[in-house]
Formats: sequence, structure tokens, C-alpha cells
Amino acid sequence: MRDVVIIGVGQTPVGEWWDKSLRQLGHDAVLAAMADAGIETADALYVGNMLSGQLVGQEHLGALIADFVGLRGIEAMKVEAACGSGAAALRVGVMAVASGMHDVVLACGVEKMTDTIGGVTTTALATAADQEYEVSQGISFVGLNALLMRRYMYEFGVQHEAFAGFTVNAHRNGAHNPSAMFQSPVSEAAYLKAGMIADPINLMDSSPVCDGAACVVLAPADRFRHRAKVRVLASAVATDSLAVHDRRDPVALDAVALSSQRAYGQARVTPADIHLFEVHDAFSIMSALSLEAAGFAPRGAGVRLAMDGEIAISGRIPISTMGGLKARGHPVGATGVYQVVELVQQLTGQAGANQVQGATIGMAQNIGGSGATVITHILSAI
Ligand code: COA
Repeated sequence: MRDVVIIGVGQTPVGEWWDKSLRQLGHDAVLAAMADAGIETADALYVGNMLSGQLVGQEHLGALIADFVGLRGIEAMKVEAACGSGAAALRVGVMAVASGMHDVVLACGVEKMTDTIGGVTTTALATAADQEYEVSQGISFVGLNALLMRRYMYEFGVQHEAFAGFTVNAHRNGAHNPSAMFQSPVSEAAYLKAGMIADPINLMDSSPVCDGAACVVLAPADRFRHRAKVRVLASAVATDSLAVHDRRDPVALDAVALSSQRAYGQARVTPADIHLFEVHDAFSIMSALSLEAAGFAPRGAGVRLAMDGEIAISGRIPISTMGGLKARGHPVGATGVYQVVELVQQLTGQAGANQVQGATIGMAQNIGGSGATVITHILSAI
């Protein structure tokens, strides 16, 4: 296997882009990454996307975007793993370069969620859950996460306000990210009085519905050492049952533990070596559960990291350093690539006011469903 490096990154701002089509968003991110890498062509393009068929009526994104960016003829295809689709595309790209199958690979994530009315997007998002056993009972995806949050609060004696720190931290960091959907800080008081979505998840516990695209350029270290921005130390995937009730323990994300352990093994690191963690904070409960299962806090103590400020830029384990899914936004199939673009910003000292000082090793974790597909990447500075 060859060592893999990232030689270029690109992203569009996250938002409600009614004036930009899906292919235009993908195009903008891909061309920005290619310009950053200083390349004019690539061997392959893998596109992470979850909902284009349902929300835009468009599948076949590999050929669509390859053609639109002027790369007609290259290998290209869509990769889908629900909200983990972006990191899944990256994972396929890493395997293609590591194996020697390809040299220069574009891994792009793109999603357009806001051009719908009524509950169409909510219905589409629920396809990440088990249709036969969960969704057919009438529950939404937010509702499933609300059940997890309620169970966590019951098991560990945690009050709702204990989660406020995740939201305050994400919005504080999003305020300094020009690509974030929300660039205003949120106070603890605002968190506490936000409208309820699915009790106990309120508006401030939840990531938004939005549009966006991000892209990274992967290449083999031996041939592109001079252009390398960061090294890919680990790329690992683990799975669990889609249905939460089929799990060993609903408030222990076993696939997060497995995916993280596999990544730590590949990178030869422990959680103590990770300087920042781009966590899948689609809902504040997912931050707490992920921090615990990935080894940064004991069971039931993930919320303590938020309460004690350990997740801040200057804390023990900074998370959501550019706003996370909560404030940068969560264009679902693009999110895993945004996370890695942000790790590259951090590890190359380009994170501005959000810079984690001295960061040389960072981890990004992208989750499909409520913990059924978990994809972890660990990157290091050159
Ligand atoms: N956090 C903070 N503010 C938010 C927000 C969020 N998550 N979502 C929307 N807003 C704001 C909007 O900016 C808008 O503000 P404005 O009135 O000042 O312009 C206001 O709230 C209403 O926005 P709207 O788009 O009408 O929200 P909505 O009520 O239709 O949807 C949610 C809000 C939370 C229900 C929706 O974003 C949602 O379903 N999120 C979960 C998505 C999801 O499940 N993703 C997959 C997870 S893996």
C-alpha cells in the first residue's frame, strides 16, 4: 500500500443556495480544489451524496459532475452511505490511491436539500433509518435522535442544559468561518429557550437543512511529496444495525468505537495523541456519544467535556473547530468532505481565529444514520 497525501482542497460556503444547482455546487468545489492543488486533470472522481435522487430528481452524479468540470471520460461514480456519504467517497479515493489503481483522485461531497417544500426533506432524511422497523412506525430522523437523547439523560442522570456547551462552542467557532451557514455566536440562554423540535431536541441541538459542496485532491506521497499539504494516516469504516433497537446498547455507539479503534491502529496513535476532533455533531447527543465511544470520555461523561470547556479551541480536545455540523452546517452527503477540508486548514495553520495552536494530528468522523456507518480519517501535518 502507498502512503496517501492531500494536495488540494476546495469548498463552497454552506447555506440556502436557491440560485445554484447541484451540479454547479459540485463544480465550484471541484475546480477550487483542483486550482489549490495546481492540477488540470485527474484520474478519477468519487462523489459523496445521499439525497440527490429524492430531492433533486437527479442520480448519476459521477458522470454529471465529471462532465461539467471538463473531465469527461475519467472514471467517476457516486458513493452513498447516508449522512456518511462524503467520507465514504473519500475512503474510496484513499483506497484507489493507496492500492496504486489511480494517482490523482478527486473526492467530492455535494448536497442540495433546500429546494423542497413541506416535509419532503424530513421524509428523505429518514431513509437513513430502518424503513421496515423504525420509519414505518412514523418516527422521523430527529425523533430517533430524541429517543437516544432522552435515554442518555435517563441512564446517566443528565439534564438538558448539560448539552448547551456543544452548541455554544460550535456557534462560537462558526462565527469565524466564512464558509459557515451560521456565523453568529449563540448564548447558553438562547440555547435554553430555543423552540422544541422533537423533545428533548430543540432547534439549538440540531444541525440545519442546507446546501453545499466540498472537495479534496488525493495523491500518492512518493510522487507528490513537494505538493503535499497533509498525510492520511488512517481511513477506517465500521458498521452497526440501522435500527437502534437492534443494538447491544442504544446509548453506546459500537460502530464509533470500532471505527475509531481501527483508525487508531492504522495511525499508531491513541486518543491522547489527537489534537482536534471534527465530530459528527448532527445533534448534540451525537457529540456526547461520539466523544465517549471514540475514547475521549468515559460512559456518561461526554457532556462533562462540554460543560468544562474541554472541547473549546484551547481545550483538551477541541471539536467542531470551524463550526461543525451545527453551525458550519450539514449538507448531509457533503459533510464528511467539509470535515476533512477543515482538518487540512487546521494542520496547515490556515484556520485563522479558530487555529488550534500546535496541531499536528487531527481526526474527522462522519456518521451515516444514527450510528450505523461510521467513517474515521486521521490526518497529520507534513
Ligand atoms: N440551528 C439554528 N437555527 C436554525 C436551524 C438550526 N439547526 N435551522 C433553522 N434555523 C433558523 C433559520 O436560519 C431561520 O432563522 P430566521 O427566521 O432568522 O431566518 C429559522 O431558524 C427558521 O428556519 P427554517 O428553515 O424554517 O427551519 P425549519 O423549522 O424548517 O427547520 C429543523 C428546522 C431543525 C427542523 C431542520 O433544520 C431539521 O430538520 N434539521 C435536522 C436535519 C437532519 O436531520 N439532518 C440529518 C442529521 S444526520
